[in-house]
Amino acid sequence: MRTGSGFYSGFYRRRVFPWLNDRFCADEQLQELRAETLRPARGRVLEIGFGTGLNLPHYPRQVESLVAVEPNAGMYERARPRIAAAGLPVEAIGGGAEAIPMPDASFDTAVSVLTLCTVADPVRALAELRRLLRPGGRLLLLEHGLAPEPGVARWQRRLNRLERVLACGCNLDRPVADLVHGSGFRFETLRRFYAPGIPRTHGWLTLGCARPTAS
Ligand SMILES: C[S@@+](CC[C@H](N)C(=O)[O-])C[C@H]1O[C@@H](n2cnc3c(N)ncnc32)[C@H](O)[C@@H]1O
Repeated sequence: MRTGSGFYSGFYRRRVFPWLNDRFCADEQLQELRAETLRPARGRVLEIGFGTGLNLPHYPRQVESLVAVEPNAGMYERARPRIAAAGLPVEAIGGGAEAIPMPDASFDTAVSVLTLCTVADPVRALAELRRLLRPGGRLLLLEHGLAPEPGVARWQRRLNRLERVLACGCNLDRPVADLVHGSGFRFETLRRFYAPGIPRTHGWLTLGCARPTAS
């Protein structure tokens, strides 16, 4: 599959991949993990890689509004019925998490679920989230990434090219917690584990809540 082809960037990316996302990222285990991740969310929330809106049912009552950053219009299209059912004001922003047209310190909570694997420049995206969080705000994360076992990590690197094509830019080998630390956040809670029933190359998860450190 040529990733530059019209089939890939059109039909596959805008129609097939959103369907795949709903098919593979909405099972019971992931629903529970989404709920655990989003429990501390409150106030004005920024969610990057909003996708098809699978997080929406898991936001707690303390959330007042949501700004959804999503570059793939096909993903957002599939999210519409979930937005209508959520009873939460949602403002959509196209484009990437690397440059979000919002003023500094305008959010109480930032959310990234299964997205730092895919953004083209995770360091720039994390710098944006740091800029956009108010002092004392929280970054909530649920991400897959580079496994600690060398054998698994070797397979992650081998499979990465295929993964990037099939899952529209997703990388298996990003060291999520290190990226977050290195971008000026301190974890308040951090859980790293293999999700049962998911191949280890895809199932090393980082679930946590981090706050920006004082600059
Ligand atoms: C694996 S999907 C996860 C979607 C959703 N967060 C979920 O948990 O179901 C990754 C998402 O990141 C989005 N994405 C890709 N590049 C991005 C970028 N630069 N900034 C923000 N989101 C991006 C994709 O369009 C896709 O919706």
